[in-house]
Amino acid sequence: EKGGFDHFMLKEIHEQPKAYRDTIRGRVHDNGRQIDLKELNITPVQIQNIRNVHIVACGTAYHAGLVGAKVIEQLVRIPVASDVASEYRYSSPLITPDTLVIVVSQSGETADTLAALREAKAKGAHVLAITNVVGSSIARDADDVLVTLAGPEIAVASTKAYSSQLIAFYLLGMYLAQVRATQTEDDIAQMIMALNALPEQVESMLENSDAMKAYAEQISHHEHLFFIGRGLDYAVAQEGSLKLKEISYIHSEAYAAGELKHGTLALIEEGIPVIALVTQEAVLEKTVSNIKEVKARGADVMAISHEEHIAGLLKSVDQAFAIPKTLPLFTPALSVVPLQLLSYYASLARGNDVDKPRNLAKSVTVE
Ligand code: M6R
Repeated sequence: EKGGFDHFMLKEIHEQPKAYRDTIRGRVHDNGRQIDLKELNITPVQIQNIRNVHIVACGTAYHAGLVGAKVIEQLVRIPVASDVASEYRYSSPLITPDTLVIVVSQSGETADTLAALREAKAKGAHVLAITNVVGSSIARDADDVLVTLAGPEIAVASTKAYSSQLIAFYLLGMYLAQVRATQTEDDIAQMIMALNALPEQVESMLENSDAMKAYAEQISHHEHLFFIGRGLDYAVAQEGSLKLKEISYIHSEAYAAGELKHGTLALIEEGIPVIALVTQEAVLEKTVSNIKEVKARGADVMAISHEEHIAGLLKSVDQAFAIPKTLPLFTPALSVVPLQLLSYYASLARGNDVDKPRNLAKSVTVE
């Protein structure tokens, strides 16, 4: 049942190329220049009228929503707010009929996410669900469903569901941009090419997982560490940190790199591991300055970036891991993979039950 893998989590990490292909398939027009989301009920007129977007979810799905928010804001230029469902539902959200509410849930059964969906619907929003389970409560109650085709996810730690949610957000963002003409057809065609390249790029990273395994063994002896990044890298850092806490029980924090000096820098001491995500070229130099700040206080820094920046980064960091090149917006779909492997191997090195971490359930159907 684990297909030759020791754990469901590792199997599911390896299923990501297929999950990406299955989620993309049928949603890209044959001409490679348009997105087709035929399954959606929302009309082009409704899409034209969207004034703002709320993205609501829990845990890892919330982290996918953080990426989704930046994708939609950049491609469609409409304001997007993200919140965790357990806060959103009690926050008297500012919803009008021109608000698009996107709920994200692997299982489609998370109690707080379902309640947030119902609250949004009652207030007149159009609710679109991104879920992995077609017949789930959330899929049934939403006005629209964009299914991720990741296949069943058994491990408590979500991997392929998260990354497939990213793919769903890319498709949705491109589709909204197409309808509202905020991106040209050439832009969309270029994005489709990059999107189609992702599955093979993930495969190439999975073939080289030894470096992450060795690094995981190294950090497995620590009790605290930090993830830092800016923009989309910060969003992925938050997911990397949750994954590591969840299954390795190592305490970690994800920090917006520029925010460190406003308090957190006090915790940096000799030998503390800092994992720096440095994939966003527009802010690369800024993150390098933050890396120097932690290095100067004795941190042991691992950088994750594109091949072309590795030699330069190695002047400031202790180790670096290269991920394949893609459009800046799509890097989360690649950079999360080494972080998943890191958590997996760190959990393994600490002798934990990888697929069933303590105190956690796969689906949280209580509030
Ligand atoms: O099924 P859902 O996507 O609604 O679940 C939401 C969270 O409970 C879930 O992502 C949780 O954070 C995972 N265990 C993280 O790996």
